[in-house]
Amino acid sequence: MKINSLRLQLLAWVVLPLAGLATINLWTSHGSALATANLVTDRMLLGSARTIAEQVAMTDGVLDATIPPAAIEMFDTGDRDSVYYHVKTARGRLLTGYPNLPEALTPSSTEATYRDHRLRLLTFSQGVVGAGKDSPISVTVGVTLAGHDAMVRRLWFGAFAQQLALVAIAGLFVLLGLHRGLAPLIRLRDAVRSPNRSDLDPVEVPGAQSEIRPLIEALNAYMARVRAQMASQRRFVANAAHQLRTPLALLSTQASYALRETVPDARHEALVALQASSGRLARLAEQLLTLSRAEPGSRRPRADRVDLTEAARQVLETHAPIAVSRNVDLGLEEAGPAPVIGDGTMLREMIVNLVDNALRYSSSGGSVTVRLAAVDGEAVLTVTDDGPGIPVEERDHVFERFYRIAGSTEEGSGLGLAIVREVVENAGGRVTLRDGAAGGLVVDVRLPLASS
Ligand SMILES: Nc1ncnc2c1ncn2[C@@H]1O[C@H](COP(=O)(O)OP(=O)(O)O)[C@@H](O)[C@H]1O
Ligand SMILES: [Mg+2]
Repeated sequence: MKINSLRLQLLAWVVLPLAGLATINLWTSHGSALATANLVTDRMLLGSARTIAEQVAMTDGVLDATIPPAAIEMFDTGDRDSVYYHVKTARGRLLTGYPNLPEALTPSSTEATYRDHRLRLLTFSQGVVGAGKDSPISVTVGVTLAGHDAMVRRLWFGAFAQQLALVAIAGLFVLLGLHRGLAPLIRLRDAVRSPNRSDLDPVEVPGAQSEIRPLIEALNAYMARVRAQMASQRRFVANAAHQLRTPLALLSTQASYALRETVPDARHEALVALQASSGRLARLAEQLLTLSRAEPGSRRPRADRVDLTEAARQVLETHAPIAVSRNVDLGLEEAGPAPVIGDGTMLREMIVNLVDNALRYSSSGGSVTVRLAAVDGEAVLTVTDDGPGIPVEERDHVFERFYRIAGSTEEGSGLGLAIVREVVENAGGRVTLRDGAAGGLVVDVRLPLASS
């Protein structure tokens, strides 16, 4: 059976061994109770035999043995014991008593069975003046064991009650100590459960022991992390709403404009603009969705085997028309497959964002190159453009959500590089920015190569 209560566990650990010890102790105390009862019974047997022996005398030349009542009555302890005795001469003649009663062969007492009773019996010899060859006579007294056994029980029960009380008191103290010791844990539970605590602020448990304090500290650290995460989520939602509001307002303006317009050409133009705005809005919503999907824990982490080269090829194919429209030379340099482990959709989305930025920020007539290589157990994806690049002091910030370099004329939301970093880090890699040889930006993404 598995005990889940700390209280019961500790109680068991203290009380069970103690009860075991008490049992051993009871066993030894039974031995000593028995020894005491034996000693007392033997004293009585000896006393009785002596009293009988003293009454044996020669009267009128005949050996006479009368049993004094006191010799028998001394055994009358209320336990209904039977007393058997006999007196024999040295030659073995029975003077009085029970003829078949066995004799104790040793000077001390023995146990024997007589008339289906267990007896403790003792034989005592004494010389009789003038009895000649009949001297010494021997007196054997035996008594059933009811009184003896009752004495053992009484002595032993006293010890038993003591031990029991000891174990019970120990158990009580364990419970008391536990109650005191566990009090901080209970207070911690109540503090955590308290309905007043919605704000995840640190719990304080005064009087917590050194064993419990690390738990409280860990809990507080955990809540601090959750608090920070919640704050960043709140910021994100607020930012996202803000980002959505502006294009939505624009859409609404463009729609009313198109409605008011009566000249077919102008109305068409307004509708085209509206379509473009709604496309951008859709793209923003898509980016937001991608970012939320890329967040750890938002969906089951996938560990697909993804060929980064193949993924890049697909992305470049879909972006070829945009490159053509912007008059940018979009090229791929690869040296075979670059397998990595990660979420295929997310990795492709990551490449889309890098290529999108490169195409967007490079100058018309320029070139964008995507390179793939396997170096030192890493797949390295490099996206090079010949745009303005990103100043060193901005390089940390551009990965933040919604961050855009001031004065960015290109449309965008500031989510692209945030998505890139989230995806790359989830796949166990890292992303760095550097200057290109002839100006422009170089983005390096390094991911661990999947072992073949
Ligand atoms: N290839 C690039 N060349 C120059 N600047 C870039 C490049 N890629 C990104 N940036 C800068 O980094 C900022 C953040 O990029 P990103 O997160 O993709 O957001 P967005 O492209 O929506 O503005 C951009 O506003 C832009 O100023
Ligand atoms: Mg971008």
